[in-house]
Amino acid sequence: MKDKINELLERVENFRPKAVAEIEDFRVRILGRKGELTALMEEFKSVAPELKREFGQKLNELKRRAQERVAALRAEAEQAAGEASSQIADMSRPGSEEELGSRHPISLVRNQIVEVFARLGYTVADGPEIEDDWHVFSALNFPPEHPARDMQDTFFIGKNPDVLLRTHTSSIQVRTMERQQPPIRVICPGRVFRNEAISYRAHCIFHQIEGLYIDEGVSFADMKQSILYFAKEIFGEETTIRMRPSYFPFTEPSAEVDVSCNLCGGKGCNVCKGTGWLEIMGCGMVDPNVLEACGIDSKRYSGFAFGMGVERIAMLKYGVRDLRLYFENDVRFLRQFESAL
Ligand code: DAH
Repeated sequence: MKDKINELLERVENFRPKAVAEIEDFRVRILGRKGELTALMEEFKSVAPELKREFGQKLNELKRRAQERVAALRAEAEQAAGEASSQIADMSRPGSEEELGSRHPISLVRNQIVEVFARLGYTVADGPEIEDDWHVFSALNFPPEHPARDMQDTFFIGKNPDVLLRTHTSSIQVRTMERQQPPIRVICPGRVFRNEAISYRAHCIFHQIEGLYIDEGVSFADMKQSILYFAKEIFGEETTIRMRPSYFPFTEPSAEVDVSCNLCGGKGCNVCKGTGWLEIMGCGMVDPNVLEACGIDSKRYSGFAFGMGVERIAMLKYGVRDLRLYFENDVRFLRQFESAL
C-alpha cells in the first residue's frame, strides 16, 4: 500500500495538463467518489492497527497535495483564459464616447500670436504680475503726475504705492532690456489688471501681448512690415492695415493699428461701426528715454514695441460680442472651440 501511495503522490506532483479539461478529468480520477484515492482510503480500513498511524498520515498528505494541485492548476488556467480574452477585441461592441477637452479661446489666440512672431525670430519673455512703479510706469517714461498712475486704473497692494498689479505687459519690456543688451526680439504674453467696472467691453483682468525689437538701425518701416505680416497671418491673407498717429509715453512716434474688417471686407458693418476698420493694437518706436532708463545706448540702438489685447483679437477672430464670456467658464461657450487649433 505504501508503494501505491508513493506512486500516486508522484503522479500528482508531475501532472501537467495539456488542456483545461484534463484538470477536471484528473480530479475525478484521483479524488472522485470512484477515484484512486477513494479506493486507497477503502483499502486503509483493513490495514494492520500498528501501521494505521503511518499510513493515515501519508494518505492525508496525499489528499492534501492532490487538492492543492487541482486548485493551483485551475487558477493558472483561469488567469491564462482572462489574459487571452482581453487580447481579443469585440469588434461588435459600441464604442464608448470620449469627452473631448478644448483649449480656452484666450489660450488658442495667445498661442497663435506667439507662434506667428516665433517665425519672425521672437522668443517668449515673462515677468511678474505683482510689480513696482519703476517697471510699470517710471522706466516707461510716465511723468509722475500721469493719470494712468491714478487709483482709478491701478490696483495697489496694501498701502505701499510701490507694490501694484501690472496694468500692462510693457513692464516685461523693461525687465528684458535691463537683463539683456540688443539685439532683443521678444514677445511677452501675460495677464494684466485694471480697476475697471466689469461690462461686456471691459474687465478688471485681461490679457495682453507685448512685442519688442531692439537692434542697430531698426526703423518704423520694419515695424509696419512686421505688423502687416502678423495681421495677415491672424486675420487672413486679404487683410490690410492702417496706422493712425497716437500717443504713448514710452514710444515716439506712436501709432494705433487698425486692420481691415474681415466681416464686411472693409465695406462697413455694425462690428466695425461702418468704418471698415478695427483697432487691434498700439505701437511705436521705443522712446530713447526708455532705452536709457533700461541701460541701453539710445545713440547706437533703436527699436519698436507694440502691445495688444488678447481678448480683443479673439473677439474679432471668433465674433465674440461679450468679453465676460471669456471669464465665466460656461462649457457651452468653451465647447465651441473644441476643434480649433
Ligand atoms: N501698454 C499699452 C496699453 O496697455 C499698449 C502698448 C502701446 C504697448 C504701444 C506698446 C506700445 O508696446 O508701443 O495700452
